[in-house]
Amino acid sequence: MEFIKVKNYQEMSDQACNIMIDKINQIEQPVLGLATGSTPEGLYQNLIEKYNQGQVSFKHVTTFNLDEYVGLDREDVNSYYRYMKEKLFNHIDIAMERVHLPNGTAHDLEAECQHYEKQIQQAGKIDLQILGMGINGHIGFNEPGTSFHSSTHIVDLAPSTREANSRFFPSIDDVPTQALTMGIETIMESKEVLLLVSGKQKAEAIARLAEGEISEDFPASILRNHPNVTVIVDEGAMAKL
Ligand code: GLP
Repeated sequence: MEFIKVKNYQEMSDQACNIMIDKINQIEQPVLGLATGSTPEGLYQNLIEKYNQGQVSFKHVTTFNLDEYVGLDREDVNSYYRYMKEKLFNHIDIAMERVHLPNGTAHDLEAECQHYEKQIQQAGKIDLQILGMGINGHIGFNEPGTSFHSSTHIVDLAPSTREANSRFFPSIDDVPTQALTMGIETIMESKEVLLLVSGKQKAEAIARLAEGEISEDFPASILRNHPNVTVIVDEGAMAKL
């Protein structure tokens, strides 16, 4: 696991953007794994800027997002589908038929998980997976206790995750209680992982990631066993290292 230490959120987003553009330009049919949350917003803004400057095209890019809430319609203001459209897809030349997010309103959620996993395999696996990390070490929506051998599955969201994400909803009662997420194994099968971590609220989590044991109690710790992980971390998040 390689750590790139940067000053602040902007520098983290700039570095992540450069890595992503290199990857897109290197591979003929790149498959990218995308994340939501506050962390990658700066990266997406940068990608849009680079696209507007003619430095990158997304025409041949296929994407798979990590997760989606159960029960929110695609166009719901809080769905991750809507987030991705507003923060990235609406502003670039990506073909929407190459964009994938789990469908949180599928009639049969189990079947939807299997279908999603199959689509990732058929695309030839993820070339570069972008990740953020929850304060409890969750990646995607894989909460502490999730099996390291999990594929795409339905999860019950931890109270701390619902609380953290309630800032986007009218009240905590509006935050869905479940989500669909790529599993830990799905994430570990990505050829390369780029984990972005910013801010002092993540300092404890980064210390645990770097120095704690590899355990299902702290899902992100498994990334230490992945052969190609880069963590871009800013000064705030490094406070406890
Ligand atoms: C959310 C998302 C994760 C994200 C994490 C951190 O619940 N499902 O994919 O990485 O929590 O969010 P943030 O970047 O807002 O801190």
